[in-house]
Amino acid sequence: MAVVDEAPGTGASYAAAGMLAPVAEAGYGEEHLLELCRASLARFPAFVAELERESGIDVGLRTLGTCVVGFDADDMVALDVLHSFQRELGLSAERVVAREARRREPALTPRLRGALHMAGDHSVDARALHAALRAVAEAAGVRMVQSRSAALWVRHGHAAGLQLAQGARVAAHTVVLALGARSATLPGVPPLPVRPVKGQILRLRGASGLLAGTVRAMVRGRQVYLVPYAGDHLIVGATVEEKGFDETVTAGGVYDLLRDAIEVVPGVTELELVETLARPRPGTPDNAPILGASTMPGLVLACGHYRNGVLLTPVTADAVAEMVVTGALPELAAPFTIHRFGR
Ligand code: GLY
Repeated sequence: MAVVDEAPGTGASYAAAGMLAPVAEAGYGEEHLLELCRASLARFPAFVAELERESGIDVGLRTLGTCVVGFDADDMVALDVLHSFQRELGLSAERVVAREARRREPALTPRLRGALHMAGDHSVDARALHAALRAVAEAAGVRMVQSRSAALWVRHGHAAGLQLAQGARVAAHTVVLALGARSATLPGVPPLPVRPVKGQILRLRGASGLLAGTVRAMVRGRQVYLVPYAGDHLIVGATVEEKGFDETVTAGGVYDLLRDAIEVVPGVTELELVETLARPRPGTPDNAPILGASTMPGLVLACGHYRNGVLLTPVTADAVAEMVVTGALPELAAPFTIHRFGR
């Protein structure tokens, strides 16, 4: 088995906040996606335990929940609407008054009006998770081919491997397309509705003890989230921009993120800003991934994970492995084939 990747771990996973938060992100019309995300979250404890045991790398799984906070009357209505939707679906979320939210997260602003607490929505250190996965794959004998794929190698209408930028070819019985936002751009791949959706993100240091779990809020109509990790670090994200493959960090993007984060957690002002980054998310028309057989024999799809790439890692791995071995997707993944987009 070979993984062809020019620069492993430097794409969207490098920018990802690592939120494992299907309940906080539950959206109308996305019930199938929610089910897939919850199934993946349920796999995380065993997945992380195995990865940490095999790699020796701590992947920073945090299990202290997620708070979604609101500031004004409109936010309170939005929280109530989200809460009734969550209850309709039987999801576990608690509506809490401002005092209770600040008891859980004392760094929250006193201007807070109320919150929802999702005890089961967690986070993981996405970079550490990638490093552990890579170490375990290599130890298991997976060949890492650090090269750019120039094209899908197609023989008699079948995917036969990859044509590398340097001219060599990697032959394969099955090619799994997992190129993130660039999945639709590889020459030879049949048309795919995957597009780049830019996200800018900040990393700050000095946040030891600032937050227990993830905090999310709407500020002036924009979503902001703050995710603690690695002891004293904090991720603040993220912008959502239709800007193609632009990886520029803009003054406006950083300004919006910092201003919104400081409104929610004033102590962010004191932190050291150590990194700013922009990466394209792999967006799809319905925000859900594309899994399973493509329209070309030999080519299996594992792309379009949009905002849930880290969360969907174990369930995607299981589904794709089953597809490659048995030729069929597990039932849970069946709603996510390319066929849902019609012709
Ligand atoms: N999953 C967080 C984001 O896409 O910004």
